[in-house]
Amino acid sequence: MKALVYKGPGQKAWEDVPNPVILQPTDIIVKVDTTTICGTDLHILKGDVPAVTPGRILGHEGVGTIVERGSAVTGLNIGDQVILSCVSACGHCDFCKQGVYSHCLGSEGISGIGWIFGHLIDGTQAEYVRVPYAETSVYLLPKEVTPEQGVMLSDILPTGHEIGVRYGQVKAGDVVAVVGAGPVGLAAIATAGLYGPSRIISIDIDTNRIEQAMAFGATDVVNSGDSDWKEQVLALTDGLGVDVAIEAVGIPQTFTMCTEIVRPAGHVANVGVHGRPVELALQDLWISNITISMGLVNTNTLGTLLKMVAQNKVNADQFISHTFELSDIMNAYDVFARAAETKALKVILNA
Ligand SMILES: NC(=O)c1ccc[n+]([C@@H]2O[C@H](COP(=O)([O-])OP(=O)(O)OC[C@H]3O[C@@H](n4cnc5c(N)ncnc54)[C@H](O)[C@@H]3O)[C@@H](O)[C@H]2O)c1
Ligand SMILES: [Zn+2]
Ligand SMILES: [Zn+2]
Repeated sequence: MKALVYKGPGQKAWEDVPNPVILQPTDIIVKVDTTTICGTDLHILKGDVPAVTPGRILGHEGVGTIVERGSAVTGLNIGDQVILSCVSACGHCDFCKQGVYSHCLGSEGISGIGWIFGHLIDGTQAEYVRVPYAETSVYLLPKEVTPEQGVMLSDILPTGHEIGVRYGQVKAGDVVAVVGAGPVGLAAIATAGLYGPSRIISIDIDTNRIEQAMAFGATDVVNSGDSDWKEQVLALTDGLGVDVAIEAVGIPQTFTMCTEIVRPAGHVANVGVHGRPVELALQDLWISNITISMGLVNTNTLGTLLKMVAQNKVNADQFISHTFELSDIMNAYDVFARAAETKALKVILNA
């Protein structure tokens, strides 16, 4: 088969590799119908994720059709079309029993399991993929949901919802600020709307992205390149700050911005992946009664979000900016990597 193979920092190739085979009785083999590229794949290609070693097939999002199943898989059938979660869950360990699938202890001798596709095992940017713990990790694609919509449920919608909105405890009437209007920030905006906040303020330095945010449910936008960005945000509240500030960028500056605009007793929900230490002004913040949360997506709300997409309560199509043939993936990476110029959000790859 063909697959997108990581060749070390800065290098990748679409090339012939052996087809995946069943290794465990709980595995299935899926023919990939639709996949996409994540900002995390770009991090990997920069060499930021050393756990990914040369030879690894990238990708952790996708919808595909089951072509083979292990002997222990009884609840899924050959021919079923399924959504692959970016996080795999064994269903048996302590963390899985708590619903914290991101920290699944798994088996197979893979430590740090949870997010394994395109990280610790071969991923979804391929014609076929081996899916471990199939019965506890995949979701049947309902007929009301297209494969392209299904791919938005592999990672970005659960991430924005779980780590942004739910950890941020968004509730009716809240003023919510989302810093960063990439696919994940936009997913936080779209799913925050499900909880009835009074305002959702999208904050970014990219004018095109904050303009797009209005279509996802933002009520107000602020360009944080403006010198008075903070005054602009506070003016959209009663002057005391936002109830919930969601960080969806992953740099020290944007995390600090969140702690500066949250009101006393509010919530800061960090979603961004950080590569550098961040200073926390505890000398000012200790008295503020705020909570700060963070974490890796569990995809434990994937099933709920799937229903919302099926009922058109969440519009998954609007995340899709470009569509390519899977075999054109090198070109798709180029378009996705130049998002500021190409206005790319999620690029769909159809087999
Ligand atoms: N916690 C998790 O489980 C999880 C899962 C998936 C992704 N993530 C992380 O979420 C973050 C967002 O992902 P994405 O795919 O939307 O990324 P992205 O790069 O597409 O979007 C980031 C946005 O931040 C904006 N930005 C950059 N600097 C800024 C600044 N100083 N002020 C305001 N805005 C600024 C950019 O213009 C861009 O629109 C990343 O760090 C990603 O790694 C976390
Ligand atoms: Zn991802
Ligand atoms: Zn587990």
